[in-house]
Amino acid sequence: TFVPRVFSGVQPTGNLHLGNYLGAIVRFVEMQSTHDCIYCVVDMHAITIWQDPAELARATREVTAAFLAAGIDPKAHIVFNQSQVHVHAELAWVFNCVARMGWLSRMTQFKEKAGKDRENASVGLFAYPNLMAADILAYLATHVPVGEDQKQHLELARDIATKFNHDFSATIASNGFGEEFFPITEPLITGPATRIMSLRDGTKKMSKSDPSEYSRIALTDDADAIALKFRKARTDPEPLPSEVDGLKGRAEADNLVGIFAALADQSKAQVLSDFGGSQFSVFKPALADLAVARMAPIASEMRRLLADPGHIDSVLTDGADRARAIAEKTMDGVKDVIGF
Ligand code: ADP
Ligand code: NA
Repeated sequence: TFVPRVFSGVQPTGNLHLGNYLGAIVRFVEMQSTHDCIYCVVDMHAITIWQDPAELARATREVTAAFLAAGIDPKAHIVFNQSQVHVHAELAWVFNCVARMGWLSRMTQFKEKAGKDRENASVGLFAYPNLMAADILAYLATHVPVGEDQKQHLELARDIATKFNHDFSATIASNGFGEEFFPITEPLITGPATRIMSLRDGTKKMSKSDPSEYSRIALTDDADAIALKFRKARTDPEPLPSEVDGLKGRAEADNLVGIFAALADQSKAQVLSDFGGSQFSVFKPALADLAVARMAPIASEMRRLLADPGHIDSVLTDGADRARAIAEKTMDGVKDVIGF
């Protein structure tokens, strides 16, 4: 029987936050029962912006620990870091030659991350979506669970697969690969937490790179820090509405209700049926308690795992060996098709 394959990744840059957890890692865990899953710590993406080498190594282990602590099974599935599998870089080069400058110029994340000083952005930051396409397509992944912010990059991966299949259709067929070499991957962007916003500014997404620590709940925050950050979270003076429609135009309230819903495995409507009419002075402590209950066991398991870096490294090495075997087979096919 055909088991659909999932690929997704998280960058080892700074501390993991609630947006990464609810938007990505929780989904990764769920998909293990229905899919063949490959989860990657994308360290080659991280260096598109300069990283302190010791910090990069620390964060790579931290993301791995978060995957394991959240419930990803590295024996039944694959957990590894990108730089250990050379095919990512090799296939990304091929995709550099398939993707068009115009396609990449339209990527909003590049514009955000490069800022005004675009002349000084790394070439890698510009070509980042091609590497992401290579990550996914090296494993012929059919599904990618991601947050809303990655939607445009996923569309680019689909465009690259389509153009590759078209440009090389003759040799794809003559090498016995049928009509398409690469699948046209489906993004999976669902649930109440596809875009968690900053706690300080309802118009910006919660992000590792936000300079304000109060903008995000880190996965490793203790109970006091979580309570304090929710208490300081920006809100409006109105009580919560009793219907989801009442959240329109109230970005901060909407965000906190969405976080509650995701943490409680409820819909926003269910949350509002319990808290409609409540003041934030009541809702915020309830939200903090829920977040602590859900996150504290993960944080303590992460601490336990991080105390034994040798074990984490062996999980990554084992995962990389199994990932490499799949990716090399794809790359051999790509070479035949291209004429290498
Ligand atoms: P960041 O954007 O914080 O640097 P990554 O780029 O490593 O994090 O993203 C890892 C995963 O977490 C991706 O699937 C991304 O879509 C998801 N993600 C990141 N930020 C958020 C957010 N604020 N809300 C929901 N999902 C998010
Ligand atoms: Na991101």
